[in-house]
Amino acid sequence: MNRINILAIESSCDETSAAVCSGGRILSNRIATQAVHAAHGGVVPELASRAHMQNIVPVVDVALKESGLQLNDMDAIAYTQAPGLIGSLLVGGQFAKSLSLALDKPLIAVNHMQAHVLANLIPDAKPSFPFLCLTVSGGHTQIVRCDAPTSLTVIGETIDDAAGEAFDKAAKMLGLPYPGGPLIDKHAKEGDAGRFRFPEPRIPGYDFSFSGLKTAILYFLRNAGTAQIYKEEFTASAAEQQRFIQENLNDICASIQGRIISILLNKLSKAAADLGIRDLCIAGGVSANSGLRAAFKAMGAEKGWNTFIPDFQYCTDNAGMIAITGYYKYLEQDFADLSAPSMARGFN
Ligand code: KG4
Ligand code: ZN
Repeated sequence: MNRINILAIESSCDETSAAVCSGGRILSNRIATQAVHAAHGGVVPELASRAHMQNIVPVVDVALKESGLQLNDMDAIAYTQAPGLIGSLLVGGQFAKSLSLALDKPLIAVNHMQAHVLANLIPDAKPSFPFLCLTVSGGHTQIVRCDAPTSLTVIGETIDDAAGEAFDKAAKMLGLPYPGGPLIDKHAKEGDAGRFRFPEPRIPGYDFSFSGLKTAILYFLRNAGTAQIYKEEFTASAAEQQRFIQENLNDICASIQGRIISILLNKLSKAAADLGIRDLCIAGGVSANSGLRAAFKAMGAEKGWNTFIPDFQYCTDNAGMIAITGYYKYLEQDFADLSAPSMARGFN
């Protein structure tokens, strides 16, 4: 059989991306990041849809050129069906459907969260089944059990904020621009994670919570680190708060990041030990965090577990992960109808 060629499109949030995969190998993965949102302190859905419409043709064009293949060489068109911003999803979805119709090639509807997990199947060194994946992004925090590429079960998730939101909201309180996660990572590299102690929530099972941490950071900054972090009673002047942040930014970032990492890895390690699963992956935008990557590897080395992390370009939103998921769905002949709806929510 010839190699299966898939053209994939991702447009769930604020990255317009196209990728080509051939026989399960990624030949190209192009991402157009939408700079327009930075000035607004977060993603503006209407602006995101408009930017996708402007970017999608050129992004698909460069991804195809880089792959060395033609549109006619494609066996199927894959796209992100859910979850995400509905206007953004519709742009990529309609584009993929138009291509599928015009080329008379099958259409493959991909779930974005499943794709984040399967980004771990892109490299040659792949995890063995069953494996556990900690998926940490701006909208989700999940522990997923993966028994086969198309058999995924969410065994734990956040009951409030996602890990990426915790990073971004902490960064906002520190006066850092959106998205703050990568900036906290940068400052944390120079800081002492043991300097300030933030509480670890007690949530049963494999679920997560980050709202208590957010409140603790708020009070801690409000009292400029002078009182116990859980206490609300003392409020420093705005100038004192500013000075405290400026003088201690690296240590504050390292301490916040350290707590987010321990919340995540304690739950993952509990799940791995309980279920006796030895292959562990991380995925999603927050898996680009250098502290999390290092702590995850160190945990694996200490416990004798195999750890896998996608390449940096496959951690944040990208069409490469949609292409690899499309490939496994193609092998099962799992095709979608042109009437398949885009959906803001949903996993599997
Ligand atoms: O998966 P993703 O690109 O988009 C969603 O589907 O949400 O994740 C975006 C999230 C944002 O919250 C961003 O701040 C976070 O990933 N992020 C990071 C880092 N790079 C991206 N958080 C911490 N450290 C990083 N280096
Ligand atoms: Zn994502």
